[in-house]
Amino acid sequence: MKSHKVKIPARKAGKYEITIGSGILPSLWGTIQADFRESGKFIVTDANLVSAGHLEGLLGGEKALSYIIKPAGEVSKTIGTVVSIIEAMEKAYLGRDTFVVGLGGGTVGDIAGFAASVFKRGVRVVHIPTTTVAQADSAIGGKTGVDSSLSKNAFGAFWHPSAVYIDVGTLGTLDERQYRAGLVESVKHALIADSEYFGLIEANIDAILARESAILEKIAELNCRIKGRVVETDPYEQNMRRILNYGHTIGHAVESASGYKLLHGEAVGIGIIGAGLIEVEMGLSDGGRLEKIRKILGKLGVPLGLGEDFAENELIDLIRRDKKAVNKWPKFVLLSEIGQVYCRDGQWAADVELSVVERVLQKLKQS
Ligand SMILES: NC(=O)c1ccc[n+]([C@@H]2O[C@H](COP(=O)([O-])OP(=O)(O)OC[C@H]3O[C@@H](n4cnc5c(N)ncnc54)[C@H](O)[C@@H]3O)[C@@H](O)[C@H]2O)c1
Ligand SMILES: [Zn+2]
Repeated sequence: MKSHKVKIPARKAGKYEITIGSGILPSLWGTIQADFRESGKFIVTDANLVSAGHLEGLLGGEKALSYIIKPAGEVSKTIGTVVSIIEAMEKAYLGRDTFVVGLGGGTVGDIAGFAASVFKRGVRVVHIPTTTVAQADSAIGGKTGVDSSLSKNAFGAFWHPSAVYIDVGTLGTLDERQYRAGLVESVKHALIADSEYFGLIEANIDAILARESAILEKIAELNCRIKGRVVETDPYEQNMRRILNYGHTIGHAVESASGYKLLHGEAVGIGIIGAGLIEVEMGLSDGGRLEKIRKILGKLGVPLGLGEDFAENELIDLIRRDKKAVNKWPKFVLLSEIGQVYCRDGQWAADVELSVVERVLQKLKQS
């Protein structure tokens, strides 16, 4: 047997800028064209963004190659949509000298990013996120992908964007339920990383709900700083990045058990309360902290507990299927205080006994 070693130079460190403002959408097309040297540009967006006027807002009167995902939302987050996007780019004679712009929520961003990651072995992508979820979470971090018929994000790649432009003004047209549910990810960021941020949300909740641009710009900046710092430390989710999953272990199970009738943020809100109850059970928290968290989630108007329809054994089964589970049981990200994740022996996720989780699920049904 012969062997030959091929030395591949280490991946070049990447960095990208996140620009935040209010009402900046009309200036972005010019900025993007000036900042990106590629000759081809291709916009991916969806039908709701078009009817809300945001594609027109971006382009002004200019024409650009684009793909409009129809129908909007998770049903179109499939490999079929990616194939259609790539073939549309080929039909337009685009080559490797192209960049993709994703204009929309997390669905559009995940699809556009994934299409960019595989088109001609990868072209650059720029995100213009337009939902509370996408501006706080999905546009930053480089996770892209689409669903299979069996599970979410079954196809996917880490494909970090080359720039992110956040116009908080685009949130003005977002549906109220989507808007509120997406803010749960901001509460999560505050809980895992910054107690002052949590205080800021508490103090400004009415202005946030009224979608006042000054406070939305502030929280967009804090979200980007927190998520950016975690992703910088652990870009490919080896360990520390797991803290972003706070509330998600129970949350994902609840989301799935609801048949996706609950929005992701709503399910994560329940998961955050579940994690808080685990912390109380394990002596990591007194009830006072949990009450503060319940209060803020209550103001967002997201559900604070499980309805009678949820079966504990189904939830436990779903928790066992968590993609980070080892021997059919995942570890849980927990807090030691607001703004601080509980970390022991360098591990950001802790062992929690099955019986504790069972008790917590019962309590969630009673609340
Ligand atoms: N990659 C990541 O790290 C990451 C993180 C979180 C979520 N996600 C993914 O993001 C997706 C959910 O994203 P989402 O919550 O942003 O929902 P979404 O993208 O499906 O948008 C929700 C709805 O609002 C519409 N919409 C979006 N922006 C609008 C605006 N400004 N005005 C009017 N309507 C608008 C959309 O067309 C859609 O109908 C899921 O597929 C999830 O898996 C990915
Ligand atoms: Zn989430």
